[in-house]
Amino acid sequence: MTVSMAQVIKLFGLLCLVVTIAAEVRVKRQDEDADPDSINVEELCKDRPGDEYFRLSTDGDCREVVRCTRSGLKQITCPSGLAFDIEKQTCDWKAKVTTCDKKEKPRKVLPILKTDEPICPEGKLSCGNGECIDKELFCNGKPDCKDESDENACTVELDPNRAPDCDPTQCVLPDCFCSADGTRIPGNIEPQQVPQMITITFNGAVNVDNIDLYEDIFNGQRQNPNGCQIRGTYFVSHKYTNYSAVQDLHRKGHEISVFSLTHKDDPNYWTQGTYDDWLAEMAGARLIVERFANITDGSIIGVRAPYLRVGGNKQFEMMADQFFVYDASITASLGRVPIWPYTLYFRMPHKCNGNAHNCPSRSHPVWEMVMNELDRRDDPTFDESLPGCHMVDSCSNIQSGEQFGRLLRHNFNRHYNSNRAPLGLHFHASWLKSKKEYREELIKFIEEMLGRNDVFFVTMLQVIQWMQNPTELNALRDFQEWKEKCDVKGQPYCSLPNACPLTTRELPGETLRLFTCMECPNNYPWILDPTGDGFSKK
Ligand SMILES: *[C@@H]1O[C@H](CO)[C@@H](O)[C@H](O)[C@H]1NC(C)=O
Ligand SMILES: *[C@@H]1O[C@H](CO)[C@@H](O)[C@H](O)[C@H]1NC(C)=O
Repeated sequence: MTVSMAQVIKLFGLLCLVVTIAAEVRVKRQDEDADPDSINVEELCKDRPGDEYFRLSTDGDCREVVRCTRSGLKQITCPSGLAFDIEKQTCDWKAKVTTCDKKEKPRKVLPILKTDEPICPEGKLSCGNGECIDKELFCNGKPDCKDESDENACTVELDPNRAPDCDPTQCVLPDCFCSADGTRIPGNIEPQQVPQMITITFNGAVNVDNIDLYEDIFNGQRQNPNGCQIRGTYFVSHKYTNYSAVQDLHRKGHEISVFSLTHKDDPNYWTQGTYDDWLAEMAGARLIVERFANITDGSIIGVRAPYLRVGGNKQFEMMADQFFVYDASITASLGRVPIWPYTLYFRMPHKCNGNAHNCPSRSHPVWEMVMNELDRRDDPTFDESLPGCHMVDSCSNIQSGEQFGRLLRHNFNRHYNSNRAPLGLHFHASWLKSKKEYREELIKFIEEMLGRNDVFFVTMLQVIQWMQNPTELNALRDFQEWKEKCDVKGQPYCSLPNACPLTTRELPGETLRLFTCMECPNNYPWILDPTGDGFSKK
């Protein structure tokens, strides 16, 4: 029951994605010419964010909307059977959409931030109605202006308390790294002397469905040019995860990070999550992994948001308080030159892309392992430009192993021949397993790359270690940070994990098996009871 529901949602998400990509066409010029009075683009687009879809008319079947771009209006059309929900800003089943009579989202009252002469005394700023309140009260998550306008202009560009622009004299390694456009190489090393790092990451539960895939890719035989085994990073979600398998991945030197505890399938829960939601989800998930995979070395330092729905400043405040070192959920749209990871002490160096636009605007002592979008074009010299894709499986035009191989090589070259920013290959295991040729193609690519002497398959932590101590290729053989757990052999900690059948009051009616080398807990660990010891009773 739950599985089929999840599949429906997944399919639906894919559908929406395909629609946005395939059907986004410029509204034809003839239309404008034919009826010049009905569309005044300039007026329609005045003060309207470029990501907002709206209707030109409420006639018709509720499927067509447009948005403003620099080159005019662009139209999308939902597939038949669906309608566009103005409130949610997505295509949805027609029966569920109640906003077909609305042309646009209600406009929010904005504060008056930009004026020639200041309206308010120093240290204060003006609400939409002219009321002056303390600058610190803007964008603090609760309305302070009577018209509530202080919470309506809080993007990375507008938040009055936003982080300052990158200042390279203040921001120095090893703790801080930024550059004006995000493309600069740390340590100002010549590109030819920079190792091309590739980060293979997986999202989701680690279990019997994918352990064989991981053993196939990371079989212990494949080595980076420094003689150490190649590695990946696992963003692990809790439900259905086999913690004895996670323990073994960690033993072999792969990086374990968290992908939340509940992986709740409501994207808005993540975008709008409170500080406490993020705390319970991410610190709770870490607690579970540490306990049941017996990871005691403090190496779980990374977070990825489900659906890549970044939780704004609250997520990053929680991360700093909980000593998480990096987030790996913000995407950078496909550009000419890829972006290097950066710290968030200063303002992020690129547009907040996707993610419901909830990027952190404030200063945070956290690294952002930015996800550069991949160029999905099958023939990049010939095809017209298409939006990039962040997870490999969201490059929905990839249908065959051959296409997948071309995608890998073309994007490798884009990074390798420019600034050698780390190339992220982000997967859901189920996609790689959906066709045998995908797995074969990935392994072929890895082996081809390892035949060179300047490509390394590393974890997120290893990327940060290199950036904190930028080291030229010819000295990398002896780069100590990359020598830890260099060549791991031997057997897992336990040959026969406990298969604990457990329940929790939080998931009524479900009995779940928790696989672990450690002792079984009393209850299935869940958000109010992450250790599984039982609810604290008053
Ligand atoms: C859990 O993982 C361990 C270690 O990889 C493996 O031996 C065991 O068979 C797995 N159990 C299940 C049910 O997947
Ligand atoms: C858990 O880790 C500790 C410390 O590394 C180790 O001493 C212990 O044997 C481990 N226990 C199991 C069951 O893996």
